[in-house]
Amino acid sequence: MFEGLPASIQVVEVGPRDGLQNEAATISTADKFRLIEALAQAGLGQIEITSFVSPKWIPQLADGPDLARQVMQTPSLAKVQTSALVPNIKGYEGAKEAGLKQINLFMSASESHSKRNINKSIAEALATMAEVAAVAKADGKRVRCYVSTVFACPYEGKIAPQASLDICKKLLAMGVDEISLGDTIGAATPNQVVKLIELLAVEVPLNKLALHFHDTRGTALANVVAGIESGITIFDASVGGLGGCPYAPGASGNLATEDLVYMLNGMGIETGIDLEKLTDAGRLAQEILGRQLPGRYLKACLAERERAQTIGERK
Ligand code: HMG
Ligand code: MG
Repeated sequence: MFEGLPASIQVVEVGPRDGLQNEAATISTADKFRLIEALAQAGLGQIEITSFVSPKWIPQLADGPDLARQVMQTPSLAKVQTSALVPNIKGYEGAKEAGLKQINLFMSASESHSKRNINKSIAEALATMAEVAAVAKADGKRVRCYVSTVFACPYEGKIAPQASLDICKKLLAMGVDEISLGDTIGAATPNQVVKLIELLAVEVPLNKLALHFHDTRGTALANVVAGIESGITIFDASVGGLGGCPYAPGASGNLATEDLVYMLNGMGIETGIDLEKLTDAGRLAQEILGRQLPGRYLKACLAERERAQTIGERK
């Protein structure tokens, strides 16, 4: 059982973008910055900090340009690979101006989600991705691209794995460095993960693939294990399990970063992340949002800390 596990896994923190894009409350740029700093202190080496999308579509991240500029001018954050979500050339120019070295494109494997999320068909989205990737690569940027709804779409139901294969091949031909496959509505089960990766592995180098699970139906960690067993070593996660997709009704939080790191620690897989400090970042996210987040480890660890403090006070 679990033979040949990788020595290490790369965790990509998407909370400040995928999480905060979905919050009803307005969060100040200063609080977003504090959260990013706390995540960096916990050892997260890759953090998606914001989006350069239309503020009419995602008002929660309208401060993206200001926040990114601030992050890029902070020496203590220089060691972190910071990135932002970019839908088109306009977004790319903003990200470039802020000094980001990595941009994250995004599109969908389902036509209906694509139309609702970016107002484009899959073919139109691919044309935009090609345009932006060409400019970004010529500028020496690292380019990641999300493919959403690879297992299921909130409007169309199950999506055939072949759709992801066709898209991945086109993205690789554009020079995209990494493709993150998204279970946007958290519907996948481990057998589907294995099947998808088996199909992709024939034509896509596994080290160029990441998996992005939402935990809507409680299958995210099981899907990570299936992904690891299939040879994937990059996983997206979100502090405290923040998140969702504004254009995917019912999509609840992403896989919580603390839950992922706790499990990988237990399996003897290195992440470079300090779980105690990550819990501090999760607690900060709860303070900023004024509510409890869905992450299980976070809840358990904060309860344990409280218990230990009460016992300490009694002594
Ligand atoms: P559109 O309305 O079709 O575009 O939106 P447009 O070109 O007609 O522009 C409309 C207005 O937006 C114009 O302004 C543009 O200048 C402006 P106006 O003239 O009306 O004042 N605009 C922009 N402003 C700032 N930055 C830009 C930008 N582009 C245009 N980059 C568009 C098309 C793509 C812009 C829009 O649909 C959009 O911004 N969508 C973003 C949706 C989004 O962020 N969704 C959530 C992220 S995806 C996700 O969560 C899934 C993922 O996590 C993985 C997973 O879970 O599977 C990644
Ligand atoms: Mg997502």
